[in-house]
Amino acid sequence: MLRSTIFLVKGVREFTRGGYERTSRSFDEAVMQRSLAGRKCMVTGANQGLGLQTSMELARRGATLYMVCRNEQRGREAVEKVIADSGNLDVHLKVCDLASLAAIKALAEEYLATGDPLDVLVNNAGLMLHERTPSPDGLETNFAVNTLACFALTLALQPALFRAASARVVFVSSGGQYTEPLVVDDLQAERMRKFDGTAQYARDKRRQVALAERFSERWAAAGQRAAAYAMHPGWTETEGVKTSIPGFYKAFKDKLRNLAQGCDTTVWLCLQDADKLQPGAFYLDRQPQSKHLVLAGTKYSSADVDRLWEALEKLAAPTLPAAA
Ligand SMILES: NC(=O)c1ccc[n+]([C@@H]2O[C@H](COP(=O)([O-])OP(=O)(O)OC[C@H]3O[C@@H](n4cnc5c(N)ncnc54)[C@H](OP(=O)(O)O)[C@@H]3O)[C@@H](O)[C@H]2O)c1
Repeated sequence: MLRSTIFLVKGVREFTRGGYERTSRSFDEAVMQRSLAGRKCMVTGANQGLGLQTSMELARRGATLYMVCRNEQRGREAVEKVIADSGNLDVHLKVCDLASLAAIKALAEEYLATGDPLDVLVNNAGLMLHERTPSPDGLETNFAVNTLACFALTLALQPALFRAASARVVFVSSGGQYTEPLVVDDLQAERMRKFDGTAQYARDKRRQVALAERFSERWAAAGQRAAAYAMHPGWTETEGVKTSIPGFYKAFKDKLRNLAQGCDTTVWLCLQDADKLQPGAFYLDRQPQSKHLVLAGTKYSSADVDRLWEALEKLAAPTLPAAA
């Protein structure tokens, strides 16, 4: 209860459009003028909302862009929009249902076969299902897409990320992560008395924060010039928000950020010099944030993250390319 109240107060102050307008007064806009020409970028969940806007922003800056969408028709329309908006013809559709490990494997293998580096991976695709729904692999679907797919795709694409001069992976997490601890022993929410999709989503978003930390630590230890960052877009007007949390949307619709504001930090993380960023941090509005609310009891240990990693590796292993 205390956690929810503190979260709401913080959210109204910081996650709304007003929060963005306040913090953005001190933004250095020069970074946003940089070019991404020659960089290869992949954005998941790219056909609408924040993923589509992020794709537009990266394409406008000249990136070679791979837009990962689960539906071919919606994906094709989105690619056409991005090409028309940006004038950048180097924009490509990758059809992949991220709820399926076999589809993730196929996507990664196809990319790795090109031998190209991957400079940017934005793990943006996400969803909040309120009914327990099995994925094609028989897993709980919020978990399959929000946690496992981000882990498996990042791990599978590692060889390409390691070929880049300064690769960065952005986990589009959420402020919702503040409301849940790092749950490692019940990844599919089987021990919840009644399935709660909002809580499961928040747990996934917490797990993304832990994964950004752990990927960054592992890459630094291996001497790789790749880093992962988690971020919160702020409360942004999208179809996802309208349909998944209609009550919240109704209450806050006048205070929501627009898409450009919501993806500003993701784009900035792709453009900023790596030595000015904190690998493994949780960003909001271009600033690393505390990962926990005061008195929330959500702190976790490195051993907890070890256990998360092992559990995810076990689930993802059979379908990862040999190179990963
Ligand atoms: N908007 C906010 O206020 C807010 C706040 C915090 C965090 N976020 C995070 O921001 C990210 C984008 O959210 P959004 O608000 O832009 O939501 P959205 O409008 O619902 O977009 C989500 C995207 O993810 C895709 N997706 C879902 N399941 C997929 C799957 N199995 N395989 C491939 N793609 C899949 C969707 O594709 P379809 O169109 O085919 O469904 C869609 O393109 C999410 O990770 C969300 O958790 C958003």
